[in-house]
Amino acid sequence: MADFKLPANSTIQPGKTWPAPDGAKQIQRLRIYRYNPNGVENPRWDIYQLDANNCGNRVLDALLLIKNKIDPGLTFRRSCREGICGSCAMNIAGTNTLACTKSLDEFKGKEITITPLPHLNVIKDLVPDLTHFYKQHATVQPWLEPKQIPDNGREQIQSPDERKQLDGLYECILCASCSTSCPSYWWNSDVYLGPATLLQSYRWIVDSRDNRTEERLDQMDDAFSLYRCHTIMNCTNTCPKGLNPAKAIAEIKKQLAWR
Ligand code: SF4
Ligand code: FES
Repeated sequence: MADFKLPANSTIQPGKTWPAPDGAKQIQRLRIYRYNPNGVENPRWDIYQLDANNCGNRVLDALLLIKNKIDPGLTFRRSCREGICGSCAMNIAGTNTLACTKSLDEFKGKEITITPLPHLNVIKDLVPDLTHFYKQHATVQPWLEPKQIPDNGREQIQSPDERKQLDGLYECILCASCSTSCPSYWWNSDVYLGPATLLQSYRWIVDSRDNRTEERLDQMDDAFSLYRCHTIMNCTNTCPKGLNPAKAIAEIKKQLAWR
């Protein structure tokens, strides 16, 4: 396979190319963004070559194999490896997604480029700084503010139809893939809440048991928090859980317009 050529204006330097293991029959190359706050060669691309026949079939398996057998310094987040914690979100071959659910088979024979989620400060290698993202999430008070405590002190009752309103919303794992794929969020994340936080907010707005609907809508009724969404749709196209943040944002706009 030809060596990767950097664009003339790239500020990312070529790094180390690790050899394929002896006797490897099916070589899989991964070109990975490296950044070490204490290092000198920053940032750089390192190229790793694995024997795909000796690796699990998810991109996270390849990263774990690299970390365990080749380069323990490679840093990335992961926890559940089942697509439910959201911690392994990264940009794989140009798309924000989850390393633990992305199949390696899709890339047979092709080099895979992996970078951290875009437009966030990088802490190290594939680990972005999500502090601001989580702070924004907290501002929408993502918890139930009940209408009343049931007399028997037990569950908040909800009809099947009311519960159905939460489908496509409660499944969000806050991986940040959608928000960091959104150009409006790239340029305005200081004032625009972004698709993930807005979908999370809508999840509580439509919850029949919640008593803060008006305050939740008031909070977004300004020029930026919600209305910096220009329906670009990257969020919906990239969501690894198949959710539709763009629709949730449109529903909030509709509720604001009709009240
Ligand atoms: S809507 Fe999808 S992409 Fe966005 S944070 Fe939730 S799970 Fe991740
Ligand atoms: S490790 Fe939990 S979603 Fe990938």
